[in-house]
Parts: sequence; structure tokens; C-alpha cells
Amino acid sequence: MNYNIPKKMTAVILKESGSTPIISEIDVPKPGPGEVLVKMHASPINPSDLAFLAGKYGIKKPYPVVPGLEGSGVVVDAGKGILPRLWKGKKVACVAAPEYNGCWAEYMLTKAAMCVPLNKNVSLDQGAMMFVNPMTALAFFDVFDNIPNPLKKKRGIINTAAASALGRMIIKLGKAKGIPVISVVRRDAQVELLKSEGTEYILNSSEESFEGELKELSHNLNANVIFDAVGGDLVQKLLNAAPNGSTLFIYGRLSPDVCEILPGDLIFTGNKIEGFWLTDWLKKKSFIQNINNIRKIQSLIGNELGTKIYKTFPPEQIEEALETYKNNMSEGKVLIKF
Ligand SMILES: NC(=O)c1ccc[n+]([C@@H]2O[C@H](COP(=O)([O-])OP(=O)(O)OC[C@H]3O[C@@H](n4cnc5c(N)ncnc54)[C@H](OP(=O)(O)O)[C@@H]3O)[C@@H](O)[C@H]2O)c1
Repeated sequence: MNYNIPKKMTAVILKESGSTPIISEIDVPKPGPGEVLVKMHASPINPSDLAFLAGKYGIKKPYPVVPGLEGSGVVVDAGKGILPRLWKGKKVACVAAPEYNGCWAEYMLTKAAMCVPLNKNVSLDQGAMMFVNPMTALAFFDVFDNIPNPLKKKRGIINTAAASALGRMIIKLGKAKGIPVISVVRRDAQVELLKSEGTEYILNSSEESFEGELKELSHNLNANVIFDAVGGDLVQKLLNAAPNGSTLFIYGRLSPDVCEILPGDLIFTGNKIEGFWLTDWLKKKSFIQNINNIRKIQSLIGNELGTKIYKTFPPEQIEEALETYKNNMSEGKVLIKF
């Protein structure tokens, strides 16, 4: 099938780090070998996009640049190669290639290897949010399984910013796997939200009693694997409360504050702190393992790995979309729809 591809397209453009993204008309790119052109359907705003806009993400691109790290759409043009030809005409979930413009445009050029055709049961809306959080949720349980447990004692997980899209996936996967998850949030409304979704162990880090309650619960559940998306002063509180010998993975920095820790809490306790970045985790997995994880995500997207959508905006309303997202993060994802 031949698509009517225009010469120009509307795109969200970031002129420099920290600037307000603007709308502009730019050329529609032509795919080369191994590449495809995706007519974009939707792309979410994730915390990683906010970091990218601020120039603080792990992948840097030359400016001006189209932001947007993941999305979905239809492959309308294909360069040379088996994969590009196979994907042409398919609905796909796609990730922006590190060297190219991103998803917040009517069309995105990316590598065919960075697209996955969607199963019939996966909508283009859910497909747009299929990589970053669902893959991270699977990754966390893989990381958890690979932390040595010589005594084969049942263990639990502590996760923070737990009313996030990712936090809710971790809760549901933990339940399905029989692994207790202590969900740490920062507001009472989030406690109620997670309760209404059937979450068992929820603590509010803003309560005076937080550290004491976390200590008791994490010791009772042997929750010695900690995933922290917040940083700031929460890290020391988590270390104070968790059982000795815990491993704490920092995977986000939602708090703008510096994260200070007492050295003794690493020297005398057997505790460890590591960073986690999905990009690095994926590099360590084989092609087959990644394909299997994609299959798993597509089969669980209607349940454990689905994402609630709060609002959608056209690209022309990018500023309003960003403000809406920043002020309502726990309500669900804000999607930019083309
Ligand atoms: N390292 C990796 O590879 C990787 C991969 C995927 C995701 N992540 C990280 O995972 C986290 C969750 O992502 P998501 O897309 O699921 O998020 P999301 O759905 O957009 O939700 C963000 C959550 O963070 C909370 N939050 C914001 N600022 C906070 C702060 N200063 N202290 C405590 N809580 C705060 C929000 O609560 P309010 O409603 O109260 O604002 C909201 O519940 C992010 O940090 C993201 O960067 C990392």
C-alpha cells in the first residue's frame, strides 16, 4: 500500500535545553536502510521526557530536536532491509532512535529494530506506552530474582512514588507473583487511590510515623530490595528502615533535592546502593529475551501492564499538556495525539 506522505509536517521542537517547546513545520524525513517512517498516533509524557526537555536525560541530542521517547503509529514508508519491509503497513509501538528526532511529531523516522508490531488486542493508545514502564516493571522483577538469596527466605520489595503508572504495574505484578510490595507514596489521596485498587501495603512518607512503620513492615516482610524513584532525603529514610543487607536501586530523581546518606549505613550494614537505567538493562539482554519480554508485555497490557490515560492533547497544545501532566501525575498519563 502506498501512503500519501506530505513533504512537511507539524512537530514539537525544543530549541535548547530548558526552553519552552514550540510548534514548527519541518521536513518529513525519508527512511534509509534499516529505517522506517512511522505516522505517529500518540506519545505519552513521561518523567524521562521532562528530564530530556531540561537537558538532564541520559541521552543527549543536538538542538533543535523533536522530543518524545516512546509512542505508537503506523509504518508508512520503509528503507531497504528485511525488517523495514516486514513492518510496512503495520501498527507499531516505537521508540525514538538515540541519533534521530523523537516521537512528538506527525511522522517519526526510526530504526525498524526499534519498532514492534502490535497484537490485535493492543490498542494504539496502550501501544504508545508499551516500552518504558511495562519493560521497567518486568526488569525490576528480573533484577529482584537475580539478587542472591542463599537462605531461600521469602523476600519483599519496597517501591517509592508508588502511585505512578510504573508503581501500579509493580503492585499488580507483585500480587500475581506472590511477592509482597510495600508501596510508598507522598500524599493521603494516593493512599486512598491505591487502596481503592486493592493494594495491600501502603505507607505515606509525609507521615511522622513513616520511618517506624516502614521499619516494622519491611522487617516483617523481609523487604530488602528497594526501588526508589524519588531520591532527596527519602533515600536515607529508606536505608534507616530497611533490614540490613538490603539493596537499594535508584531509578528516578523526582525530588530536586540532593540525596545525602550516612556512610555508616553502607559500611556497617551490608546495604548496597545501585543505579538502574532501563537502557543499560536492555543492552544486557539477548535478542530472544527482549522478544519474549515484548510478547509478555503485549499479553499483560490489558491487566497488570496497562496504563491509565488521564487526558490527551494535540501537539499544538504542548505547553498545556506538559502543565497538565506535571500537576496531575498520579491521575494517569497525558498523551499527545497526532
Ligand atoms: N530508570 C529507568 O530506566 C526508568 C524507567 C521507567 C521509569 N522510570 C522512573 O519511574 C518513575 C515513575 O515513572 P512513571 O512514568 O510511572 O511516572 P508517572 O506515572 O508520571 O507518575 C509520577 C509519580 O511520581 C510522583 N512524584 C512526583 N514528584 C514527586 C516527588 N518529589 N516525591 C515523591 N513523589 C513524586 C507523582 O505524585 P504526585 O501526583 O504527588 O505528583 C506520581 O505519582 C519516574 O521517576 C521515572 O523517571 C525510570
